[in-house]
Amino acid sequence: MNTRFLDACRGLPVDRTPVWLMRQAGRYLPEYRRIRSACSFLELCKSPELAAEVTIQPVDILGVDAAILFSDILTPIEPMGLELDFVPGPVFENPVRTLADVEALRMPVMEQDVPYVLETIRILRCELAGRVPLIGFGGAPFTLACYMVEGKGSKDFATIKKMIYCAPEIYRALMETVAEMLVAYLGAQVEAGAQAIQIFDTWGGILSPSDYERYVRPYTARVISGLAGCGVPIIHFVKGAGTMLETVREAGGDVVGLDWHISLGKARETLGPGVPVQGNLDPTVLFGPKSLIEAEVQRILRENDGRPGHIFNLGHGILPETPPENAKFMVECVHRLSAKG
Ligand code: CP3
Repeated sequence: MNTRFLDACRGLPVDRTPVWLMRQAGRYLPEYRRIRSACSFLELCKSPELAAEVTIQPVDILGVDAAILFSDILTPIEPMGLELDFVPGPVFENPVRTLADVEALRMPVMEQDVPYVLETIRILRCELAGRVPLIGFGGAPFTLACYMVEGKGSKDFATIKKMIYCAPEIYRALMETVAEMLVAYLGAQVEAGAQAIQIFDTWGGILSPSDYERYVRPYTARVISGLAGCGVPIIHFVKGAGTMLETVREAGGDVVGLDWHISLGKARETLGPGVPVQGNLDPTVLFGPKSLIEAEVQRILRENDGRPGHIFNLGHGILPETPPENAKFMVECVHRLSAKG
């Protein structure tokens, strides 16, 4: 088994820098589009054999050092009572706006309500055995609450911000419910066989650092401490965390995910050499010529300066029009340029 990824999560030395890509299973791959052409995205998430197949595609095609479960951060919200659709962005028909809406949320029973997620993990552990580790994931409470309250993506997230400032008791009740759900959901993924967990806080950077500390971090910290003792590394990725890395670090977890707005070298100096990091190539660089891709990989490796505990990744998800051969070339560059000896 290739243990580079898990070793780097623990801050241990590795023979080559491990690499995987956020959203590595998806529309930029023709092999994904072929399977996806016969069903909807949600149907694909709910079909364990197919979800396992698209999870493995980037492992075979790109040569990455970890697989990430094919699902979505919003999967466990549907059984809480919010009707979910993808058009292609996520939409909830009945968003959460009042205390009564929060109180009406159901706490899912994982084996009954999201059996397909756990079954996909079990299939993957069999099919991946001896190859690469499997990452499970969930959204951070705040990012999930953003979609639950707004009902869809948003430019300014004014509806949830208004809830925070004008009706904090509704916001807090919602965040407590979502955090409780996540401890059970992510714990069930580990029990089913996930070997690491990534928490995605895509929208954690839209608040001021002091509001992040007050309204976001305590709930993420609650999820991470609820998973203490589960025995697998936890990666915490907050998009836009550059100006508040130490604050984000306080939430706990093993690895800090970085977007591309902060230099990796500066992030490592801020966090200290004992804190493993993951990142942080701008996904758009994969549209550039190979010479640029190689130079950018080299720059990031140089910024890391040989410190153990670096997992190479993009600073956010791969974009749908990315040429797959460029993603594959990036993975090769990481391995070749970081090879020891
Ligand atoms: O990384 C992986 O390969 C695993 C699968 C994965 C998906 N979504 C599949 C997906 C993961 C880890 C996610 C996380 C996710 N989902 C996040 C956090 C990370 C991030 O990108 O910020 C968020 C915010 C979501 C919510 C979501 N799901 C959005 C906003 C969209 C639409 C965006 C778009 O590109 O159309 C989705 C749909 C989605 N999730 C797709 C995939 C492959 C596209 C579905 C399709 O095939 O049409």
